[in-house]
Amino acid sequence: MDRADIGLIGLGVMGANLSLNIAEKGYRVAVHNRTASKIDEFVAGAGDLRDRIVPNADLRAFVQSIRAPRSIIIMVKAGAPVDMTIESLLPFLEQGDSVIDAGNANYQDTIRRFGELTPKGIGFLGIGVSGGEEGARHGPSIMVGGSKAQWHNAEGVLTAIAAKFKGESCCAYLGEGGAGHFVKTIHNGIEYADMQMIAEVYGVMRDGMGMSPKACAEVFKSWNGGPLNSYLIEITGHVLEAIDDETGKPLVDLIVDRAGQKGTGRWSAIAAEELGVAATAIEGAVAARSLSSIKAERQAAEKVYGSLTRTAKSGTGVSLEDLEQALLAGKIVSYAQGFAVLSKASEENSWNLPLGTIAKIWRAGCIIRSRFLDQMAAAYDKGEAINLLMAPDFVEIMKKGQAALRRVVAEGALGGVPMTCLSASLSYFDTYRQGRGTANLIQGQRDFFGAHGFEIDGRGGDLHHHWPATIHES
Ligand code: 6PG
Repeated sequence: MDRADIGLIGLGVMGANLSLNIAEKGYRVAVHNRTASKIDEFVAGAGDLRDRIVPNADLRAFVQSIRAPRSIIIMVKAGAPVDMTIESLLPFLEQGDSVIDAGNANYQDTIRRFGELTPKGIGFLGIGVSGGEEGARHGPSIMVGGSKAQWHNAEGVLTAIAAKFKGESCCAYLGEGGAGHFVKTIHNGIEYADMQMIAEVYGVMRDGMGMSPKACAEVFKSWNGGPLNSYLIEITGHVLEAIDDETGKPLVDLIVDRAGQKGTGRWSAIAAEELGVAATAIEGAVAARSLSSIKAERQAAEKVYGSLTRTAKSGTGVSLEDLEQALLAGKIVSYAQGFAVLSKASEENSWNLPLGTIAKIWRAGCIIRSRFLDQMAAAYDKGEAINLLMAPDFVEIMKKGQAALRRVVAEGALGGVPMTCLSASLSYFDTYRQGRGTANLIQGQRDFFGAHGFEIDGRGGDLHHHWPATIHES
């Protein structure tokens, strides 16, 4: 039987769908899974793609069924399972073969694996695959990092299976080592912020305006026809109009308000802090998920403090148009923060990340795909963006939308509707555009208690003042 063009280990939801996508694009794909029965199930469900699938329960046979130099995709749970899978593969691999980790790995693990495998003559690619089950099957966004030589081995298949935007593949090689997984991590940080801001706007609609899930759904659907057009806005309409089969009630009203998080959003916040880049909306979104998880405490606190949100009777000082503009402004700030983290990480790791290309491959297939990513890509390609907030297109949107963002954040504050991310975005914006901030006072305080020094224009840095001794209470 002809050898396979590529191999894939891990026939979970993502792995199985990726394999079908590969086969559908005309490639022969060898498949393997630790639990052999999963291979049989997968093959049985492959339909007319069956003849392009080369199943093997035996790992050696699986590797030998792939044409050299081999590219083998690993789609298993991030962490130790990836290392275990690599370990089990090594005895059967030959020089020039490469392993492709397509899971949500921590980029530092990817850098480590890249360093461990390269001396063995085995290539390693860490690729971020975004788009969930639907994306894996019909076209994800693929963010590739690792050795460029190995990338060329897998380039044909990966670009073929990726989503297309106006005919352009949403797959690109982004840089050495952990670059691909890092970009995916920041994608997820932006995803968290995007989802949190949508939830905060939903909070104003539900708790401030007293709107039903159906009414909220209609608004999000209408917004999806405008500048907010994006995958997350689109699915929000669907989630809000879904009806629970068992009770006939709006499903969203029955779902427990505790958000899960597998970790990628948290990693993006940690990376931002380690890089010294403010990513307050992303950090706020992670914190909001953590706060959502302590539901019992929140219920107890509500008994003590009472619920501050206004009822529909009192109405609110904001319009639906305000909410739309506020959400657009908040989203732009969160993308600006994400790209600022990417830019700093690119410098620190000498990745030379192509920010315009990253915006381009996010235009389709991935969870944060949005209409304005086309403008972001253009801004980077034209060299307009130190920070996206300085790109002319976004300057215009922010100048127009900031008043609405202020009204919505103020309304949330007055009504007790949580605004973790939208308020963080507004404060980031106000701090970013303030030429004279208040850190001068902080420098004075630091010199007072720690003699850390301060700078005065025209007199240089590391200056000190003769502060009065503080009276220590005996
Ligand atoms: C994607 C998603 C996906 C994400 C899971 C769970 O790009 O397809 O970001 O990779 O990891 O949907 O994410 P959380 O549990 O962190 O929300």
